[in-house]
Amino acid sequence: MRWLGLLVITLMAASEGFAQLPTFNLGRTPSADEIRAQDITVGPSGKELPPGRGTAKEGAAIFEKRCAHCHGVNGAAEGQFPSLSGAKARVVNYPFATTIWDFINSAMPRKVPDIGTREGTLTAAEVYSLTAFVLYRNNIVKEMDVLDATSLPKVKMPKRDPHLDKVAPR
Ligand code: HEC
Repeated sequence: MRWLGLLVITLMAASEGFAQLPTFNLGRTPSADEIRAQDITVGPSGKELPPGRGTAKEGAAIFEKRCAHCHGVNGAAEGQFPSLSGAKARVVNYPFATTIWDFINSAMPRKVPDIGTREGTLTAAEVYSLTAFVLYRNNIVKEMDVLDATSLPKVKMPKRDPHLDKVAPR
């Protein structure tokens, strides 16, 4: 009966995949970046991460243009949008840096049609740079540290419970 359990799990995974299917609705063929943004979910091992690289220094310039109007200068928002640096930032509690990459890749910049922002408009390199910038603002990586598919999964998040490494081998 073991195979039956496996089948159920596979089917559940497949339907979850369906729930995440892109609702592009663009009236045109989506670009490669838009497809990537919707198409991958990045786990702790980072094996789904695409090629590309970036540093916090590169991320700072992109952040200013694409993110600061919601998240504040350097991510220190005080208002309705989440703060990405400092005492109130939730991102430092994420157990895996790959989750920050995944979130920025699939959900940021948050969609605001009037001002033309839309998720899926960042390149993979920009997502690496922005992830590096967010981590840098929280003293987790250095300004010139290069993040890519190899180095990002190795970043140790400060609140990560070491016990997790034992129960969920990566
Ligand atoms: C139009 C406003 C807006 C813009 C622009 C925007 N964000 Fe966000 N961001 C949000 C909101 C709102 C949330 C809360 C989660 C949600 O509602 O999707 C969020 C959440 C986040 C989070 C998770 C924070 C947490 O506390 O868990 C990260 C990381 C993030 N944004 C990064 C970025 C980056 C990087 C950019 C630039 C590419 C960006 N955001 C652009 C509005 C915005």
